[in-house]
Amino acid sequence: MNMVQIIEKKKLGMALSSEEIDFFVKGAADGSIPDYQLAALLMAIRLNGMNREETKLLTLAMTHSGDVVDLSAIDGIPVDKHSTGGVGDTTTLVLAPLVAACGVPVAKMSGRGLGHTGGTLDKLESIEGFSVELTEETFLKQVQTIGCAVIGQTGNLAPADKTLYALRDVTSTVDSLPLISSSIVSKKLASGAKAIVLDVKTGAGALMKTTEESIELAQTMVRIGCDAGRNMVALVTDMGEPLGSHVGNALEVKEAIDVLSGRVTGPLLTVALELGARMLVLGGAAADVPQGKQMMENALHSGAGLAKLREMIIAQGGDPACCDDLSALPQAKVVCPAPALCSGYIERMDTVGLGNAAQAMGAGRKTKSDVIDPAVGFVLHHRIGDRVEAGEPLATIHAKDDASAQEAIAAIQGCIHIVPHETAPCKLIHAFVDSEQVQRL
Ligand code: URA
Ligand code: CA
Repeated sequence: MNMVQIIEKKKLGMALSSEEIDFFVKGAADGSIPDYQLAALLMAIRLNGMNREETKLLTLAMTHSGDVVDLSAIDGIPVDKHSTGGVGDTTTLVLAPLVAACGVPVAKMSGRGLGHTGGTLDKLESIEGFSVELTEETFLKQVQTIGCAVIGQTGNLAPADKTLYALRDVTSTVDSLPLISSSIVSKKLASGAKAIVLDVKTGAGALMKTTEESIELAQTMVRIGCDAGRNMVALVTDMGEPLGSHVGNALEVKEAIDVLSGRVTGPLLTVALELGARMLVLGGAAADVPQGKQMMENALHSGAGLAKLREMIIAQGGDPACCDDLSALPQAKVVCPAPALCSGYIERMDTVGLGNAAQAMGAGRKTKSDVIDPAVGFVLHHRIGDRVEAGEPLATIHAKDDASAQEAIAAIQGCIHIVPHETAPCKLIHAFVDSEQVQRL
């Protein structure tokens, strides 16, 4: 097999064979193909695309480029959920305990923050003592006994994706439907879940900015998942503004606990219930989505969800005090308001900018080796469509010092666009996609 010929073929817009795809994926995983040839091929794929068969073959080759987790020791149908990434998106911390409390096992491998988006592992590590590094054996035992576990990737999952994703990041080839789909779905297939609910974000803070592009991404991923023998469905949900009001690691844990305690409702809970209801259906615990939602609400109001979060925190070595006393979470030194500079209505938010502002405060990493400050971030007080008066707080800043707070205030004021005329709130759930249909909601 010759890499130059493979690049040549894709350059001319031809479909690659199964052998050709296996060859370059193997070469990406074991380092035998140089970066410059992989980069050239990635650009050819970005420009000329891949058909449905090629995209499936690429995904399967990437799945099998490393370890594949075996969840068969778990009773029932383990269900996973995956978000394409957002800001203030704490749905995992809300829905994993609720779904587990309803009897469906959640064996979840999560990620760390990437660019402007937060990561579930970083959020959980803001809980004193919480460990996201369990052995596969401990992970399976925990899911078997308490019904849920959230950990980082074990072993060597989809190593071809590690190489290809790093190259895409620096060659302007992230925004390719076959490359995004194969990257996400290969990791989900390798992490072993039989049923997967995808949360495909859409809007200013998402990978895909328009509803139509996001639906196409959802369809592509669902098709691959189902072709690979997994039960996969997707919701397309809004990321035109942060989902929850809290952005930052401990702040997002606090918001999840507020929601699970029944003290706070709103978009985060709405999306968590929608996704969770679908997980209950795929897991065989609910006959349909309305029943799933009812079960999730019952688990919320009975306190079973919060009790499950407490069990999970204890099982993973964390201090569960935060479930009853939010002041047990890390607290920032400087807490101050970010006032609105004018009166009017919020028209839109620069959601990527808000994520970057939190990252700059220390809530995310600029380089791989950066250490996260769990306490910092901000709490937004308004959503798109809201009326605000000049001088009233747009957000409350939680910063490590005054200089960082001042920088965050200016960033937030610049990211929230206020206009004189009335504006419409964002729609939250845009579509549901399964292997048979697209349902626009
Ligand atoms: N997330 C991934 O894991 N891969 C992509 O290509 C994009 C987002
Ligand atoms: Ca997330």
